[in-house]
Formats: sequence, C-alpha cells, structure tokens
Amino acid sequence: MKFFIDTGNLSQIKEAHDLGILDGVTTNPSLMAKEGIKGEAAIANHYKTICELVDGDVSAEVLSTDFATIVEEGKKLAAIHPNIVVKVPMIKDGVKAIKWFTDNGIRTNCTLVFSAGQAILAAKAGASYVSPFIGRIDDSGWDGMELIAQIRHIYDIQNYRTEILAASIRSALHITKAAEAGADVCTCPLDSILGLLKHPLTDIGLAKFLEDAKKM
Ligand code: G3P
Repeated sequence: MKFFIDTGNLSQIKEAHDLGILDGVTTNPSLMAKEGIKGEAAIANHYKTICELVDGDVSAEVLSTDFATIVEEGKKLAAIHPNIVVKVPMIKDGVKAIKWFTDNGIRTNCTLVFSAGQAILAAKAGASYVSPFIGRIDDSGWDGMELIAQIRHIYDIQNYRTEILAASIRSALHITKAAEAGADVCTCPLDSILGLLKHPLTDIGLAKFLEDAKKM
C-alpha cells in the first residue's frame, strides 16, 4: 500500500518525506485555505513547491463544478508539473470531465466518494484514483472500511484499474484497516502516520535495553 500525506503544510510534508516512506500528497480546498494560500498564482506556486519536495503524485483539486470550467482548470493544474493529478468531485459534470481528462492523457483523482456505485462510475470514466472518505462515513454511523472492501471486491472482479485511495483517515488504526481491506493507497494526516510508530512495549523494551547497556 502506498502512503500519501493529506495536507498542504510544507513542514509536515517534509517531515513525512524525511521518514522515507512518503509516496505522494493529496490536498483539498479546505487544506489549502488552512495554509493561507490565496489566488491562482499563489496556489499554482504552492503545488509546484510540493511537487519539488516529493517525488510522487500530488493531487490538486479543481474549484469549479461545470464541465467546461473543470476541464479548463484541470488543464492549468496539470501543466504545473508532470506529477499533478487533477482532483475532481463525484458529480455529473465531474464524471464527464474525468472521462475527458482520461481521453486526453491527464490523470485524475475522483473525490468525495461515499458509495460503491460512485466508485464504479469513477472507474468507468477512467479515474486514476478513487477517494472514498472513510472518516466521514464513520462520522455518519456507517462503516467506512466496509466500503473499501466492497470497492476492492468490485474492482477485482471487474478488472477496473483505478487505484483505491482511502481518504479522510483519522487514526493509525484506520491505516491498518485500510491496508487489510485492500486499499492501494492511504492518504493520512501526519499524526496518523506517526501513530503507527507507537507501542508501549516498544518504549518499555527500549528503556530496559538502554538501562542494561550501561552495565556492558
Ligand atoms: O482530502 C480528502 C479527505 O482526506 C478529507 O479528510 O478529515 O476532512 O474528512 P477529512
């Protein structure tokens, strides 16, 4: 399973990259706004900086919702760097645009996916990635991981090549469960990635080894 970091924050991206396990980055308008990035030029420049930091796919989301404008916006985003993947919402014009991008050699990440039916449409349109939002499904009282497993099953029996990108990850446990359910990629906040490091027996064991080492 590939590891992406879900943030627009450059120092967090650097920290995950320095760990040596980072395969890419996803962003969304909320995450970009959180970094105080405003205006087309500043946004493009920020994406370029991220692409230069990480050797992997970087999802950049369109802000429009009609076919013609999504296509125009996506073309501009894709021109920023070869690693840019255009993130498009799961709406009717979004699906049409994903098909257009596929036919024109531009890679896409279909976002805001909450059902297997939506994931089928994304794959049929040729999306490179589909992003089911695990945490938000859990927040609503359903089981986000069941959706990952269902999409995995459908994609395998139908031979769809779209990669399943588990998004809206909220914990280290989500990452483990997404790996178990067959996600191709997990996009996570830095805290969830670092959470994978933690086990009290590791801390206790290391403290004991270091104490005994003094007697050597
Ligand atoms: O980038 C999409 C997704 O990861 C958002 O996560 O935590 O806002 O539901 P969250």
